[in-house]
Order: sequence, then structure tokens, then C-alpha cells
Amino acid sequence: MTAPTLSDRVLGLQESAIRKLDLTVALHPNVRWFRVNIGQPDIPTPRPLLEAVHNWDVSVVSYGPASGIPAVRQAAAKYHSRWSPGLESKHVAVTQGGSEALLFAFTAVCDPGDEILVPEPYYTNYNGFASVAGAKVHPIATKLENGFALPSDEEMDTYVTPRTRAIVFSNPGNPTGAVYGKEELERLLAWAKRHGIFVIADEVYRRIWFTEPPTSALEFEDARDHVICIDSLSKTYSACGARLGFLISRNAQLMEKIERLGQARLGPQPLAQQFALAALSLPADYYEEVRATYRRRVDALMNAVSKIEGVRTHRPEGAFYAMLDLPVDDAETFARWLVEEFRHEGESLVVAPGPGFYSDPSLGRTQVRVAAVLREADLRRAMELLDLALASYPGRTV
Ligand SMILES: Cc1ncc(COP(=O)(O)O)c(C=O)c1O
Repeated sequence: MTAPTLSDRVLGLQESAIRKLDLTVALHPNVRWFRVNIGQPDIPTPRPLLEAVHNWDVSVVSYGPASGIPAVRQAAAKYHSRWSPGLESKHVAVTQGGSEALLFAFTAVCDPGDEILVPEPYYTNYNGFASVAGAKVHPIATKLENGFALPSDEEMDTYVTPRTRAIVFSNPGNPTGAVYGKEELERLLAWAKRHGIFVIADEVYRRIWFTEPPTSALEFEDARDHVICIDSLSKTYSACGARLGFLISRNAQLMEKIERLGQARLGPQPLAQQFALAALSLPADYYEEVRATYRRRVDALMNAVSKIEGVRTHRPEGAFYAMLDLPVDDAETFARWLVEEFRHEGESLVVAPGPGFYSDPSLGRTQVRVAAVLREADLRRAMELLDLALASYPGRTV
């Protein structure tokens, strides 16, 4: 008997750094956990979204069109016209989360063996989407010390090979909290155009910013054929489980192929699209409330972090994550020690180990990512626990 073999693509899949510790956490139900490791907001999903689903009244739950129900595509086009005036339904495909939009984008622009550039540290699941598309993620190094800024064009040029097909980045950044403004986007798009590559702008955190709004890649009319924008209901509307996202591009040839990819999986769920219709009709002050909530949380988190000796960070300008550089020998071991051994008055915390956000894990060796997804008092307590944990950790370095 010969054993069947799996593909190299799946054998090479990374285990999610974020979910890795969850199994251990589940073994200790009596501990009060402060979970700042995942990007799952605890803000209630707005009532109109839930009501739209309750009120959904059909006799047959049928397949829908591959690129989404016309009303949702229209509403999404209207919403995104704020950044790209005149955007039409044909420029929007409705997808099963931003995740599927990313998978479609990677699949549409890469052949097996092609490369996608990404400023590092980056959202870990880009690795998985690239593997499934047969492509490779090629990191561009950025540093906490200078706010994870993009390197010069000359340095970026050194990362381009004949197999480079696209650059992907999240703006605002997960895990960095960095925001690219107009100048950076302008430079990046001009650079990508010069190299003839696609720009996959992952803007799922676009509405969460604290000083200057991020510039959307959709704003650049003259780069219309190069830009693929990713959006999602997950973070903006605290509706991660709705699994509803958008792929937006004015590149007609690309959108025709995205439609075909959509046909292969039939259509996005009609029920989830009810969430989208309600979400896209929310008034402008909803977005202001969301921003104010995360601003308060990030302020609380950063104030608490600033009191911990030996911890360095870059204050997030958007999204709700911060990378912390810790005085430890190995962040992966420290994160595991937290969930397995550290307890204070029956409480402990879960952080996401930094190495998982780097292609070369040694680069994030002393870093962890924390997410401001809890109430302010809980975030303060979580950072107090981090301080106490660092004080008693055997592998502390300074
Ligand atoms: C940067 C980034 N892009 C995409 C996603 C996926 O979002 P969705 O829930 O819409 O699939 C996430 C989720 O955490 C994310 O952080």
C-alpha cells in the first residue's frame, strides 16, 4: 500500500501564531484571561445589522450572483465613491470576508512561483493566501524605531525580481498600527507603476485612525489599472463573523477574472449580504463613534505601556494593534510561559508572539503584538499583568 501524499502547498502552511496559544488557554477555564492576542473586537455589532438579518424573509435561500447581489454592489460602490468618485457596481465584487478578496487578488495576479512583496512585519495570513495561490511572500524590512516607515525607492527596487507581481500592505497596518498618508501612497503607487506590478491595498482598518486619516489607494485615478483595494465588514462594523468583504478595482480585465473566480464558488452568502446592506447605510456619526472608542482604548493601552520599564513601542496611528519590544530573550517562549505558568490573583494574559509576523522569525524575536480590543480598564489591567509577568520572568534580559 502506498500512502497518498499531500501537496507541498499545504505541507508548507504556517500554523497561525495568533491561534497557537488558544489550545493551552482552553485547558485553563478557571483563569480570568485578558486576551489581547486576537483582533476580535468586543464592541457590540450595530443593531441595524442584526435587525436586517432578523427581518430577512425569503422562501428559498438561493444562490446569488457570483460577484454579489446588485443592491450590495451598488451600495458598496456608492460608499467607496467617497475615495474614488464615480465608482460603479462593476468595480466591486462582494466576497466572503476580506480574506477571500485577498485570496482572489493573489490568485488573479500570481502564477505558481511568482512573488508578492510586503512590508514586514505583516498580517500573517498573507502567507497562507500566497501559499494557496502558489506564490511566495517576499518581505520588505521596516523597523519599529522609525515607525515602520517604507524604505526609499532605491531600497525598494532591490526587492524586485522578474517574478514580482504585486505589493500588498495593510493601511492602517496590522500588526504595526502604522498609517500611510498621501505622500507615501503617491510614492508607492508611482514606484509600482514604474515596475508594472499590482498594488493590493488592504484597507480593512481604513475607518480606524487617530491623527491623520489613511490615504486610500482608490484615490489615485492615474493608478486605476494597478490598484486592487480590499475592504471588509469585520472591523469597521464589529462583524467579523458575517464573513463579508469587498474587492474593488477599476481594472476591467481583472474584474472580469474575479467574477470567474467568484463563479467557481458560486456566490457569497445572501444572508451575510443583508449585514452589508444595513452596514453601508449607517450614518456618518457611527464611524466617528468607532474611532473615538478605539482612540480611548489605544490611549489607555499606550499610557499603561509607557509605565512598563524596558518596553519599547510605536504608538499606533490607526487600526488597534501595537507591537511591543520586550526585555525578554525570546517572545515566543515568553508568550507560552504566560499562558502556562504566569498567574496573578487568578488572572493572566494572552499576547501574540512577534516572530509569527515576520518571514524570518528571528527578526521579531523580542516582540509581541497586543490588540486594544478590550475596555480601557481591562487593557490597563492587562498591561499591569504584563509588567508583573516581566518582573518575575526568568528569561528577562534587562
Ligand atoms: C490586515 C487584515 N486584512 C484582512 C483581514 C481579514 O479580514 P476578514 O475578517 O474580512 O476576512 C484581517 C483580519 O484580522 C486583517 O487584520
